[in-house]
Amino acid sequence: MSTTPAITEQMTEWWQHGVVYQVYIRSFADGNGDGQGDLAGLRSRLDHLASLGVDAVWINPWYVSPLKDGGYDVADYRNIDPRFGSVEEAEQFIAEAHERGIRVIADLVPNHTSSDHVWFQEAIAAPPGSPARDRYVIRPGKGPDGAEPPSNWEAVFGGPAWERLPDGEWYLHIFDTSQPDLNWEHPEVRAEFESIFRFWLDRGIDGFRVDVAHGMIKDLTFPDIDSKTELLESEHPIDHPHWDRDGVHEINRAWRAVLNEYENRMMVAEAWVHAERLPLYLREDEYHQSFNFDLLEAKWTADSFRRIISRSLDAAEAVGATSTWVLSNHDVVRHATRYGLPLDVKWRKWVTDGPHDALDEALGSRRARAAALITLALPGSTYVYQGEELGLHEVWELPDEVLDDPTWERSGHTERGRDGCRVPIPWETDGPSFGFGTTAPWLPQPDTFGPNSAAAQAGDPDSMLSLYQAAIALRKGRFAADRRLAMLDLGADVLAFTRGDDVTVIVNMGSEPIELPEGRLLLSSIPLEGGMLPSDAAVWLAG
Ligand code: BGC
Repeated sequence: MSTTPAITEQMTEWWQHGVVYQVYIRSFADGNGDGQGDLAGLRSRLDHLASLGVDAVWINPWYVSPLKDGGYDVADYRNIDPRFGSVEEAEQFIAEAHERGIRVIADLVPNHTSSDHVWFQEAIAAPPGSPARDRYVIRPGKGPDGAEPPSNWEAVFGGPAWERLPDGEWYLHIFDTSQPDLNWEHPEVRAEFESIFRFWLDRGIDGFRVDVAHGMIKDLTFPDIDSKTELLESEHPIDHPHWDRDGVHEINRAWRAVLNEYENRMMVAEAWVHAERLPLYLREDEYHQSFNFDLLEAKWTADSFRRIISRSLDAAEAVGATSTWVLSNHDVVRHATRYGLPLDVKWRKWVTDGPHDALDEALGSRRARAAALITLALPGSTYVYQGEELGLHEVWELPDEVLDDPTWERSGHTERGRDGCRVPIPWETDGPSFGFGTTAPWLPQPDTFGPNSAAAQAGDPDSMLSLYQAAIALRKGRFAADRRLAMLDLGADVLAFTRGDDVTVIVNMGSEPIELPEGRLLLSSIPLEGGMLPSDAAVWLAG
């Protein structure tokens, strides 16, 4: 039986209130001159993270991989891809991060392996019906000669979720064809992942971000999916044949038991499930936390931010958990760009379909500054995606021929996918890759990256980088671990709340400047105008 722990004013664990910086390793910093980021590059830039003041880094998959899906296609879970470094170097990195007081969260991908994984190679080399096939979801097809897939399920990246093998059987891949789904009913699969957890825990990893945490269990009768039934769009949770099935909780509990053998470790779920079902993942013997993507999906209005913040805090509190806050990650259009689009534009489609001249970059940048003062003020942990502290925009103009995301091919070139938020980070104002490395980077950078580079912003009190540094330092000094937030009513277009003992956060999301209440100015996203808070701007006040 799990019980709900008592809610206290203070959040005592590091992961309950930390700022976690997400490193997309392939695009962070290139230390060996091959155009792709790596551990050497990351180690050389650790001081950037320390000066930002983050509590932890989460590193996207660094394992051996053909990189068909940016590393979410793992061929060997106990080795680092040679393009990124080695296990020894990972251990050095973990030690160096720890010396700076920064924890390290690894990314674990349990739903599927790469088709290069030795298990899958064994499975397809073995004849139908052999035990080697049981570790994956491999079945005969339907129809007289088995030429139809076992069900009508669709892959997330487009097209059918089943691929036919030369011998006529079909394997399930909820993502790309290069990502066969594991069979989580198989005891060897369960034992293998517990052992992988231990392997990295023994090397000093402080936590895990678990990929597609709601996907492992499938209905093995393979019912067809009614195309009208969308998991997250229905009003109430639905019985879906491959998402959010009850069986995942048993797996969660087994992993939690492994983590509990170590001190101070955590796991965070990437679970895209109905809001009513999310608390189940946060029971005391399951995940420590789960990503909350609601703010990321929210429109830039005071009403939607207010609603989502209150609802998220209530939901977390109801199960004795803490919330998380995310505005951007490696899967979505960068928020500086989203906020520069008219409210009725669907940003996922906009990247491919436009209209691109609808984008107001200056407006997006201004709102992104205000947004930093929202997410860094909220109780819970805040995830910062690399480059958002530099105010980077989505690079939506990438030429077709460099696109790497499987979505582009699988959709028959009708969806450009996620490359635009994965363009390598600019460190210097010029050079062949703006200091990312010494050669051309794996995705081309736009010229705007020079003035947005870390070097251009360092020491400039008005830069986005300085704003993040100041906000993180103030948060730590004043309210990070304090759970208290009270909403204030300062008008329909104003998001306002108090934090901890004496901080008030005010965000003007309307079109006219507003008067501010009494208080000492701690930080503002842009300068006040005649003592008034301009539109799309935020302040933190004390007292
Ligand atoms: C990751 C994606 C990845 C997918 C399949 C996710 O949700 O964040 O980047 O493509 O899982 O592993």
